[in-house]
Amino acid sequence: MTYRKEIVPPGLERVLFTEAQVNRRIAEIAAEISAKYTERPLKLIGVLKGSVFFLTALARLITVPVKIDFLAISTFAPQPRASGGVVRISKDLDEGIENEDVLLVEDIVDTGLTTRYLLQMLAGRGPNTLGICTLLDRTSKRLVPVTIHYRCFEIPDRFVVGCGLDYKQLYRNLGYLAVLDPAAVTAD
Ligand code: PRP
Repeated sequence: MTYRKEIVPPGLERVLFTEAQVNRRIAEIAAEISAKYTERPLKLIGVLKGSVFFLTALARLITVPVKIDFLAISTFAPQPRASGGVVRISKDLDEGIENEDVLLVEDIVDTGLTTRYLLQMLAGRGPNTLGICTLLDRTSKRLVPVTIHYRCFEIPDRFVVGCGLDYKQLYRNLGYLAVLDPAAVTAD
């Protein structure tokens, strides 16, 4: 399968935001962040795997000193996260964040359960400041309130892929955001 730039591959319905729109918005958010965090290095914490593409693009456009670290999570079966399942850290940060200025970087906030859990967990480690920056915000799915400090796009209640977001681990590497064709969604 070859992905040609913004020619929608099989399985996708339409482009939601083009690569140029995504890049422009990330540049705007990077400028906001650069203007805010001027005093000390900023630590970006990415949540694997989805945030990797956004974090990388964002970090390259931030003009103040930046450190990065990653964590990975999984959800305890049998409860899915969307119905209140428990989030578990499957890969912790490599370094502590005590007294640091930290931004949690997500590809998407849906129910807010993951973000709420991660913010509580990170807050307990004594950062100087703690914020959240997300590429996408699907507020229609929200189950718990979350204050989002930086967000690129709010999206409709559709299955969106690209820029790190996947369907069955595919499409993460698209530079644009697209709506998955509902006919392509299979039960397995
Ligand atoms: C996504 C995203 C968040 C979470 C948000 O991860 O990266 O971590 O879902 O959902 P919530 O607001 O409903 O809690 P996903 O489980 O798709 O894993 P991935 O990043 O590896 O694709």
